[in-house]
Amino acid sequence: MNSFNSIAPDVKLGENVRLSKFINLYGCEIGDETKIGAFVEIQKNSSVGKRCKISSHSFICEGVTIEDNVFIGHGVTFVNDSYPRATTADGGLQTEADWKVERTVVKKGASIGSGATILSNTTIGENALVGAGSVVTKDVPANAVVAGNPARIKRFLEPEGKKDENGPIPFLDLVTPHVELEDELVEVLRRSLRTAGFVGGSMVEEFENAFAAFCDAAHCSVVNSGTDALRFALMAAGVKAGDVAVTVPNTFIATTEAISQAGALPEFVDIDETTSNISIEKLTAYLETQCKRGADGKLTSLRSGRPVTAIVPVHLYGQMADMDAILRLANKYGLVVIEDACQAHGAEYFSREQNRWMKAGSMGHAVAFSFYPGKNLGACGEGGAVTTNDAKLAAGVKMLRDHGQVKKYYHDVEGYNGRLDSIQAGFLHAKLPHLAAWNATRRERASEYDKLLAGSAEIRIHHEPEWSRGVYHLYVIRTADREGLMEHLKAAGISTGIHYPIPLHLQNAYAGLGYKKGEFPATERAAAEIVSLPMFPQLTAKQAERVAEAVLGFEAKTGQAARK
Ligand SMILES: Cc1ncc(COP(=O)(O)O)c(C=O)c1O
Repeated sequence: MNSFNSIAPDVKLGENVRLSKFINLYGCEIGDETKIGAFVEIQKNSSVGKRCKISSHSFICEGVTIEDNVFIGHGVTFVNDSYPRATTADGGLQTEADWKVERTVVKKGASIGSGATILSNTTIGENALVGAGSVVTKDVPANAVVAGNPARIKRFLEPEGKKDENGPIPFLDLVTPHVELEDELVEVLRRSLRTAGFVGGSMVEEFENAFAAFCDAAHCSVVNSGTDALRFALMAAGVKAGDVAVTVPNTFIATTEAISQAGALPEFVDIDETTSNISIEKLTAYLETQCKRGADGKLTSLRSGRPVTAIVPVHLYGQMADMDAILRLANKYGLVVIEDACQAHGAEYFSREQNRWMKAGSMGHAVAFSFYPGKNLGACGEGGAVTTNDAKLAAGVKMLRDHGQVKKYYHDVEGYNGRLDSIQAGFLHAKLPHLAAWNATRRERASEYDKLLAGSAEIRIHHEPEWSRGVYHLYVIRTADREGLMEHLKAAGISTGIHYPIPLHLQNAYAGLGYKKGEFPATERAAAEIVSLPMFPQLTAKQAERVAEAVLGFEAKTGQAARK
């Protein structure tokens, strides 16, 4: 201590606090080993933790709590009143009684650069870094690096020990990408609130154009879910009440719900066991032997006696079905192809017909996508889209989603309330530039899994034909003792899923369709053996390695048990 300082008697100084000159402290508490530079003022009801460095000329006002190990640069200013006024309503000078101090907290290990201003009622998270000259107007998450006025998140520091690669591995991490994009997403919300453009408008159109371009499609019509995308696509493509649409039984029920809700009847063909997608042989056999062709060339199902008008291939797990073959068959039999690409945003297919790689969304008559939050491109709520190269079909979907309107209050047909909120369109547009990189990381993790599991005798890995570049919405393996493996992984802190445990033809909801157990053996075998391993863009290589090791560890354990 020295004579140039003003340290009030009510200040609680810890052990070995180092003070420079011209310091003004009153009513505050300073922790052990903290160092305070020249011309710093710390006011009453404030506290500074242990081992902090408060650089010269900083102003720490009443109501600020600074935890341990915090660095405060030069000339940092804290504020404790959001609406400061000099005078009261009757014109007199305000006194302490007139204002209410709003608290600010700087969590342990955080650093605040020189010249920053920290507005009141904010919390700077643990280990966060506030850039010099920033103006912090809202809470800063732990480990975030923020800068600017207002301060925005630039990136996240790898927190010491946070990415605990030895800790539990979730099946999916939806939090991290949203925290990383928080500023852009909040900006979307702000733009919406300021224009009150909640339904339709430029945010919707901008995203439609961007997503059509991403898919190499001429048109995109966004709707409120993948289910409605499929339903509206089928209807706009001319599938009518009483028709049959052919699909697979190993998909999420939304595929067949959409067919039924369009008034049609789903009929199933089995899958190819190596790809889990529709079997071309079985589709050909269905069209050739389970349907008859009328003199007019139209196809009728022998099973139901109804006209067959559509094929709905599902690009399951993010890998496209063999589209050349499907389109050839559709062309031969006069059928429309409505693709369910709800799990396949960005998937690619090498068309031998066209001798080029083609994107999901650019091939069939219409292609349905889901933006359910867990999808490769997910909204912060529900959403879907139909892409097509047919302008009339796109207009049909737009009409159906909007009460059958061609223009306001002119209804050509009875439609639906199936629009996508503009806020969701804005969120999706903010995320879209990241999709290619997210998909690339999924592919990397999948190829690591492939390599590590390739030698296994018990595990069957998913096959990617040379004409496919899948986007691994899910990474699915097969094993005889699925339940045992899942239990083993659970005990190792690894979450898994099953997509899907009961084929659609065996669901109670479809008992009325009259299918029997054993009718789709490839699907039924798969349903009994599949396990989905953790797969998301933030999964690290080390985590994927741990998952693969745990899978192989189960095999070794059960192998030993069998040998005993
Ligand atoms: C294969 C498949 N089809 C359709 C859908 C339906 O999409 P949504 O949930 O957006 O209605 C999903 C989504 O879960 C899906 O995975």
